[in-house]
Formats: sequence, C-alpha cells, structure tokens
Amino acid sequence: MDNYLGKPKTEGRAFINVCLVTRKEDARCEEEDVNEQEEDGYPSERVMPWEVVEKKKIWEPSCETFSFAGQEINIKTSLDSFGALIWPGALALCQYLENNCEQIDLMDKAVLEIGAGTGLVSIVACLLGAWVTATDLPNILGNLTYNISRNTRGRCRYTPQVATLAWGHDLKCAFPSSIFRYDYVLAADVVYHHDCLDELLVTMEHFCRPGTTLIWSNKVRFESDRKFTERFKNAFDITVLAEIPQEQVKIYKATFRM
Ligand SMILES: C[S@@+](CC[C@H](N)C(=O)[O-])C[C@H]1O[C@@H](n2cnc3c(N)ncnc32)[C@H](O)[C@@H]1O
Repeated sequence: MDNYLGKPKTEGRAFINVCLVTRKEDARCEEEDVNEQEEDGYPSERVMPWEVVEKKKIWEPSCETFSFAGQEINIKTSLDSFGALIWPGALALCQYLENNCEQIDLMDKAVLEIGAGTGLVSIVACLLGAWVTATDLPNILGNLTYNISRNTRGRCRYTPQVATLAWGHDLKCAFPSSIFRYDYVLAADVVYHHDCLDELLVTMEHFCRPGTTLIWSNKVRFESDRKFTERFKNAFDITVLAEIPQEQVKIYKATFRM
C-alpha cells in the first residue's frame, strides 16, 4: 500500500480541503477565459450591483498549474460549483496513477471518469496513453471540456471525449453494457454530502463489469461517507491501493464480485 502524499494542505470552504501536493503556483487565466466564466457563472435572476461585487469576489475563476506525467497542466477552477474545484481525491489519484503506471497501465486502455469536475484526473489518464471519456452533469461540461481540450491537444495518443452522465439516470439507454465497456472507471471525491449516493452506487455497478477495474479515491468526511464505503465494499471485490492519513484520503480498487 502506498502512502506518498506528505505535503501540507490549505483549508478551502467548509469541507473542501485543497491540497497543494504538486501545485506550483496560482496564476491568473487569460483575460478572455475569465470573461467567459463570468458570463457562464452568474445566475440569470436580476442582482443588485453591490451583490455582483460580492459574488465576483467569491466566484472569480483562477488557474492552477500542476505537473503530472511529465507535463504542465493548467486547470481553470472557480468557486461557483463543487465541479469547478480540484478536490483532494483527484490530486491523490493523479499522483497514484503517475507513481504506479506499471501496475495500473493505462496505455491504450478505455477509461471512463465519473464526476470528472475540472477534468484533472481525465487529463492525467489521457497523458498516460488512455482513451478517455470524462463525464459529469451538464452544467459542469463547459469548464471540463475547456480544461481537457487545452491540456491534451497535440499531447495525447487519443482525443478525449466529454459526455453528460448523471448518476443512475438513463444508463441502460445512454451507456448500454453491450457497447460501452471500459478497462478502467475512475472516480475522485464523488462521495461527499449529497443525495445521490444510491444512484452513484448503481452507476458504479453498471460500469464495473467483469474485466473492468474501478478506482475510487475519496476523502472521508462524514458518517454518510463511511456508510457508503461499507456498501461499496459489499458490492465489489475490494483492495485498498493507497492511504494518505494526513489527508484522510483512501484509494480503492474494485472489481466485479462473481
Ligand atoms: C466533489 S466534486 C469532485 C470533482 C473531481 N472529481 C475532483 O475530485 O476534483 C464531485 C463531482 O461529482 C459531480 N456530481 C455530483 N452529483 C452528480 C450526479 N448526480 N451525477 C453526476 N455527477 C455528479 C459534480 O458535478 C462534481 O463534478
């Protein structure tokens, strides 16, 4: 078992702890990117000017730079949704995939990421040679597509795909098991305080068929996270790949239980 993340974390909002393991420095995105995010990011209802000033302060997008798989990766983040932030499970999983690229060989493998958020994990999988489909809710896909495209174009063996995948919805029609078979399913920090844990498990079961390896990296925060972990352990054959106690992050490998 690996325990490789030794550097300190910074505290973000209530339960979002963003760790700085490979982050070099915060840098401003190009001006046009900022404008694009501002237009997308604000609610449509009318707000008073002083409220806009407050919201701008909170939602201002920024650009974070990482180094994985021998490449510099620039990720546009924002505080306007959970999917626009980089979570500790994603950083831990990227580091794990990079450090263990012989055991988890992604070269020429079909990889699905669920709850991809900013796309950092999918980008690293792509750079490691995988054919990747990054999925999330519709409102996340704009920033996800932007990050994936700017960090993989001309650098990867396969052009990554981005698709809507709402956990538990329309899986048999949109992703029939007879057609959509993945070597790896990746999931980082998809378990936190939300109401879709049943749907998440259904989604994991839908994609984790014989021949597929599911890798789930998560910071454990709540009692509900622990309960989900118990259900996860009952649903699959499980190995703990890595544990980062100081981050409370665990990385599990799951395969279909015969
Ligand atoms: C905590 S964020 C983690 C993002 C990214 N994996 C990371 O670790 O940086 C959880 C992600 O799951 C997505 N998500 C939440 N509920 C979902 C649902 N019902 N169906 C699909 N995706 C969902 C969110 O949009 C968000 O991108």
